[in-house]
Amino acid sequence: MNIVFVTSEVAPLAKTGGLADVCGALPAELARQGHRVSVVMPAYRGCFHQGLAIQDTGHRLELPIGQRLVSAQLLETTLPESDVPVYLVQQAAFFDRPGLYGEGGRDYPDNCERFVLLARAALELPRFFDMAVDVFHSHDWQAGLVPALLNIEYRHARGYSGIASVFTIHNLAYQGCFPSWDMAVTGLDWRYFNYRQLEFYGQLSLLKAGLVFADALTTVSPTYAREIQTPEQGYGLDGVLRERGESLTGIVNGVDGRVWDPATDQHLPARYDVTTWQEGKAECKAALQAEMGLAVDPFVPLIGLVGRLADQKGWDLVAQVMRRWLPHEYAQWVVLGTGQPEYHSLLGDLAAQFPGKLSVRLGFHEGLAHRIEAASDLFAMPSRYEPCGLNQLYSLKYGAVPVVRNTGGLADTVTDASAAHLSAGVATGFHFDHYDADALDATLRRAVHCYRFQRGDWEKLVATGMSQDWSWGQSARQYVAMYEQAVERKRNAASQAS
Ligand code: ADP
Ligand code: GLC
Repeated sequence: MNIVFVTSEVAPLAKTGGLADVCGALPAELARQGHRVSVVMPAYRGCFHQGLAIQDTGHRLELPIGQRLVSAQLLETTLPESDVPVYLVQQAAFFDRPGLYGEGGRDYPDNCERFVLLARAALELPRFFDMAVDVFHSHDWQAGLVPALLNIEYRHARGYSGIASVFTIHNLAYQGCFPSWDMAVTGLDWRYFNYRQLEFYGQLSLLKAGLVFADALTTVSPTYAREIQTPEQGYGLDGVLRERGESLTGIVNGVDGRVWDPATDQHLPARYDVTTWQEGKAECKAALQAEMGLAVDPFVPLIGLVGRLADQKGWDLVAQVMRRWLPHEYAQWVVLGTGQPEYHSLLGDLAAQFPGKLSVRLGFHEGLAHRIEAASDLFAMPSRYEPCGLNQLYSLKYGAVPVVRNTGGLADTVTDASAAHLSAGVATGFHFDHYDADALDATLRRAVHCYRFQRGDWEKLVATGMSQDWSWGQSARQYVAMYEQAVERKRNAASQAS
């Protein structure tokens, strides 16, 4: 198959979260399985500082953005250790900026224009390279307009009528909502601004455009696929999603073993696998304790947290539990994150109060994220909701036992250390259900108790998690099966119409 990915993030070129990891790894795995894959993304300023050679393809685009024609250049690089081309849409006024979506906690005011440009540039790819594309696979609201434009504007364009569109929801909470007058920016007729199509409570929603117009929808875990069809977790879009329930599949994310593998990870002071984890992790733990200004102590349980400082991730619960634990408990905490300013000050204040027991790094540091996974005994993810989550998968692979809330992809990938699961040899972590500090507190205590006093069980937990296969192979095959169905549906519909 010939698949074009359209996305706002691709690791290692531009990353704020897991979307980048997925769009850096899944295309390479699909290519390894014999498919032709290209990726289209914006040429942000940061892309030029990631050590990848970026060339000009010589192609110039003139794209309608509202009443204007905006010109852009198409640059090209390749995903590391693959032959997957990544096309970067260069438009300096739009993308040559310090941030991806905004600065200082504020979104850029012209995000609608910026991502309409991305969608329009991507849709021109088949013409530029004269290639027969089977599927446009677009991701999150930033690429939500691709299925809509394909269905409406490109419906009768030569070579486009058989192309299917697949839209993946990585996070339903981010909806790409803009004032109604931005409809003009999309170039689509105002008649599509209605409650069954692009309108969402009086605004234009680019996410809804993807949900309504794509031939197939996916999200990043089966549990999240069910959750978002309920009013509690549907963010007002559960009705749309229920209506499209037949076309919505949940496929869990995988781990890119070229980037995340403790046996080969160049960010670590010591490398290890499932047979050598005790020594390997001990060395990584001592090094991280020294690096982060924590007391160097091999016995103290070290709890790691890495993630966006956003409400989604449960930092309010973490702070409550830290306040209870830090004065008395024999445990250390290490936190890496960046995001909402209120969490920056909350965590910064706590770290200043309890040096040696809590160390907080506020910023984005790829290498440190790896070292925390390797050094930690436990890894906490008390998310309010979690579409899939990659950090718990990295934790399993790095032997940092995950303590997670039983939601979304966390529920699908971590098996609780109940007595039954332990004796069946399938337990890999600790679950709690209710989103409250008492539940997180009790579950961390259960985990720490196991770490300190039930070493046999602990070693089994670590080894079971490390031995699991979370590589992309199987998930990529599920995507291919879904692409094939979408193409068949699309071609049947196209032949009926003609
Ligand atoms: P989400 O996509 O919701 O942010 P995921 O668990 O799917 O959550 O993916 C998060 C990814 O971003 C992981 O690769 C994680 O290591 C990385 N990450 C998040 N915050 C940071 C940070 N401050 N520094 C380095 N890596 C980070
Ligand atoms: C989103 C979700 C996260 C998921 C990631 C990649 O950012 O919050 O759970 O793992 O996308 O799919």
